[in-house]
Amino acid sequence: MTQPKHIAIIMDGNGRWAKKRFLPRFVGHQKGLRAVKKVVSHCAEIGVESLTLFAFSTENWKRPKDEVSKLMGLFLSALQNEVSKLHKNNVRLNIIGDRTLFTDEIQQHILQAEHLTENNSGLQLNIAANYGGRWDVVQAVKDWSNKNPDKPITELTEADISMNVCLAEQSEPDLLIRTGGEQRISNFLVWQMAYAEFYFSDELWPDFDENSIDKAIASFSNRERRFGKTSEQVTHDSH
Ligand code: FPP
Repeated sequence: MTQPKHIAIIMDGNGRWAKKRFLPRFVGHQKGLRAVKKVVSHCAEIGVESLTLFAFSTENWKRPKDEVSKLMGLFLSALQNEVSKLHKNNVRLNIIGDRTLFTDEIQQHILQAEHLTENNSGLQLNIAANYGGRWDVVQAVKDWSNKNPDKPITELTEADISMNVCLAEQSEPDLLIRTGGEQRISNFLVWQMAYAEFYFSDELWPDFDENSIDKAIASFSNRERRFGKTSEQVTHDSH
């Protein structure tokens, strides 16, 4: 069975999970963190190479102040309490997104966590925080231009952008999972997911577990990835 090398997840439905139980939205996010831990351990165990989780988008700042500050608190406590366990399990942690808007304390913890785990060779765990796909493409073009001050923009190629977006050194996501019933990409890894298979689940994120991941992987394995070729070409090439 072909297993995806790189799984990207839009973790949606924490608020609705809490609302259904007459609990504050924040409790949904706490339970969401529990689901994150399950999914990370499972992916590490079954040998997925990269896992990228959308934790906070550039649009999420528009949520009520209290929810934003509680989400930041949860992010900080996860960095304080979970990183040593990740390190023991040979997981390498990368935070992608514009981190300049986070508090100095969070930025410090991010740097320490990335430094501590930078030589780990197991699962690459990427957390997208204050991340937007369009921001990523723009910063890639700016980076390219800074590195090549003498080249005119007409020389910019797709490969140049691919080499300068976030996660350039990892394989591109081959499976995108979105929970919570919506079927949108929401400005996630728009460049990197050009050829990803999409899997939408009605489960709310806090309910997502090992079994749910296995179901998504099984669905991925049954699909035929053609990359623009015909079905016959793909079948012929693989024999
Ligand atoms: C979407 O649910 C979830 C978020 C915006 C936050 C995701 C955060 C976590 C899963 C917990 C913390 C994770 C880490 C990595 C520290 P929603 O609030 O949009 O749900 P709704 O659509 O039901 O309102």
